[in-house]
Amino acid sequence: MMFQRLFLVHFFLLLSLTTATAKRLNTIPRLSPIGPRVWRDQPDKTTLGEFDGEDFETFFYNQTLDHFNYRPESYDKFPQRYLINSKYWGGANVSAPILVFLGAEEPIDEDLAAVGFLVDNAVQFNSLLVFIEHRYYGKSIPFGSREEALKDASKLGYFNSAQAIADYAAIIIHIKETLRAQYSPVIVIGGSYGGMLASWFRLKYPHIALGALASSAPILYFDDITPQDGYYSIVTKDFREASETCYQTIKTSWSEIDELASKPDGLSMLSKKFKTCNPLTDASELKDHLDTMYASAAQYNRPPTYPVNEVCKGIDGGGFGDDTLSRIFGGLVAYNGNLSCYVNAHTDPSETTVGWQWQKCSEMAIPIGVGNNSMFPPDPFDLKDYIEHCKSLYGVPTRPHWVTTYYGGHSIKLILQRFASNIIFSNGLRDPYSSGGVLENISDTVVAVKTVNGSHCLDILFAEENDPAWLVTQRKIEIKIIKEWINKYYADLTMF
Ligand SMILES: *[C@@H]1O[C@H](CO)[C@@H](O)[C@H](O)[C@H]1NC(C)=O
Ligand SMILES: *[C@@H]1O[C@H](CO)[C@@H](O)[C@H](O)[C@H]1NC(C)=O
Ligand SMILES: *[C@@H]1O[C@H](CO)[C@@H](O)[C@H](O)[C@H]1NC(C)=O
Ligand SMILES: *[C@@H]1O[C@H](CO)[C@@H](O)[C@H](O)[C@H]1NC(C)=O
Ligand SMILES: *[C@@H]1O[C@H](CO)[C@@H](O)[C@H](O)[C@H]1NC(C)=O
Ligand SMILES: *[C@@H]1O[C@H](CO)[C@@H](O)[C@H](O)[C@H]1NC(C)=O
Repeated sequence: MMFQRLFLVHFFLLLSLTTATAKRLNTIPRLSPIGPRVWRDQPDKTTLGEFDGEDFETFFYNQTLDHFNYRPESYDKFPQRYLINSKYWGGANVSAPILVFLGAEEPIDEDLAAVGFLVDNAVQFNSLLVFIEHRYYGKSIPFGSREEALKDASKLGYFNSAQAIADYAAIIIHIKETLRAQYSPVIVIGGSYGGMLASWFRLKYPHIALGALASSAPILYFDDITPQDGYYSIVTKDFREASETCYQTIKTSWSEIDELASKPDGLSMLSKKFKTCNPLTDASELKDHLDTMYASAAQYNRPPTYPVNEVCKGIDGGGFGDDTLSRIFGGLVAYNGNLSCYVNAHTDPSETTVGWQWQKCSEMAIPIGVGNNSMFPPDPFDLKDYIEHCKSLYGVPTRPHWVTTYYGGHSIKLILQRFASNIIFSNGLRDPYSSGGVLENISDTVVAVKTVNGSHCLDILFAEENDPAWLVTQRKIEIKIIKEWINKYYADLTMF
């Protein structure tokens, strides 16, 4: 049950798509540690790990709606959920550390079941463990109900990253006060969008967090810092490295889909060929679905399944016929398993789909396009289109430069080498989002820990017995670095 909920991540789209940009807004997998389920994954092995939810106690904090204004409605409160596990904690008297997971665009239960880094390492850190839910997700909903909170831009306006990290600051201070743990060092941990929040939290709240582990955080995928084709270049590279013939088949398939679709009765032939759940009304439904499948396979290309290899086995195997489209269908089946139908099954949009769309449209505008050298048809990012589309959805335009204005990003090495300390940026280079990650060491304590074969947020998921050696090493390096920060802090503490 838990497992099902965990992996029922819907990338699809609640709105009909009109422009290429609108399409992009919806086909790229969300920024999340947790990928969709690949049918070969073994439910009892891959993610639930050692997780024992019973050690966590749930609390609700009476959170302030608006931290940055002093208008009467700014003082409204909402219940914000957080969970604490004190089983391994050394206690306040010895200033034992506190590891805090900063929630992102999903209900916090989903993270609790998948993100194992805290529980796995609690014993060696003697640490208190805290998971905090992001506002507007799960049970941390302002204005009394989701329906009310998501109603329009005047209520959605409080749904942003600056408010979210201010929430985390307030809750961490509250916990430390309650436990009289003022000298316990806090390490914040996050993945993907949550990883960006963790790194930004360390920069904005150095008096609250001693350090941050930012896993797969593409903090440089804003403005024009990262080339817009970075994401799809890596998707393409992943497939090409897995199999040259698979890559070639995918590359030629788009025009074959278009060609067939343009024939009389072509859409119904395509629908039949791909066993679609509902008759296709446009070839783009199929193409968007495949686009998302390839992108997700690459983003979550993790052991033991390696979904890119699985898709390519299906395509190269040609079990449904030798022609290009039959091969592509083979890839679809390899990824999804034997289903009664594919492509356009009706699914209700998840909380994440709904919430993350607002976040992308307001401030998290990550300019992802497709360049000329990829297995996908070229599709450059068009900012004007993007803003127009978002404006039509919410009535307010995107602020594409706000993230770099507020958090920085340009000339990151120059700025952070003097200004910042104690941040780990971890990445797997097979993750398409690593193109917007920090991949070089900036200083002795602002470091990049990367693995050639890693995928999205792999290092913070529950450790498994059969994890490859490079992943085990990556985690060891991260733990060693965090221990160094803490020991240095303890040494400093005794000096005052
Ligand atoms: C939250 O704070 C508000 C205002 O300070 C107060 O009126 C309300 O009773 C509090 N709610 C809870 C559940 O403590
Ligand atoms: C912590 O220190 C205080 C004050 O010295 C003491 O009263 C308390 O018993 C200690 N708590 C633990 C768990 O050792
Ligand atoms: C899927 O169906 C094919 C053909 O009917 C069969 O050979 C294959 O074993 C099935 N796979 C699974 C996982 O059921
Ligand atoms: C891609 O190709 C088009 C058409 O050939 C050309 O106009 C465009 O400049 C190319 N873009 C890049 C990034 O090379
Ligand atoms: C950065 O420094 C860390 C710790 O010293 C090291 O483990 C890592 O390999 C370095 N990363 C790069 C990209 O050189
Ligand atoms: C990465 O994977 C490739 C095959 O997919 C393998 O040849 C290579 O040795 C791996 N690299 C590392 C560092 O494990």
